[in-house]
Amino acid sequence: MWMRYALAALSVCFVAGSWFAYRGASTNAPASNQVRQGMRLWQGNNCTACHQLYGLGGYMGPDLTNVHSDKGEARIRTFVRYGTGRMPAHAMSDAELDALVAFLGWVDRSGRSRVPQEAVHWTGTYHFEQP
Ligand code: HEC
Repeated sequence: MWMRYALAALSVCFVAGSWFAYRGASTNAPASNQVRQGMRLWQGNNCTACHQLYGLGGYMGPDLTNVHSDKGEARIRTFVRYGTGRMPAHAMSDAELDALVAFLGWVDRSGRSRVPQEAVHWTGTYHFEQP
């Protein structure tokens, strides 16, 4: 008889543990056609040569995983279209910019990048200390 109680108790633990482990898991929406177009623009313009997503990519510019929610889409449009002294301007149509913004928004909703804030230099670049 006690084995049934033990089994029931273990089942409850299993369900509760699963809920605890997966409650924050992100289930990102499937990529729309616009998001896919934005991804192709991201790849075709080689944004990743200078920028990272989730810490992967070039280190000349900042990580853009959460730029959509942190800095806003107006900033994305302005930087891409006009560039800066260090980032090149990109000639893109409004529809292409919309797609790029949609892609970065989609990436953003997948989670938070864990690049430590103290690694970010005031110029927007990253400086990792060698151990
Ligand atoms: C040659 C390197 C280079 C390429 C290629 C490049 N960027 Fe940048 N980007 C930079 C640098 C450097 C900065 C930091 C801004 C500055 O101070 O000039 C930046 C800044 C940005 C910012 C502002 C980020 C923030 O946190 O304020 C956005 C958004 C951005 N880039 C998007 C893009 C996208 C999208 C592409 C591809 C279409 C791209 N960049 C291609 C170098 C680059």
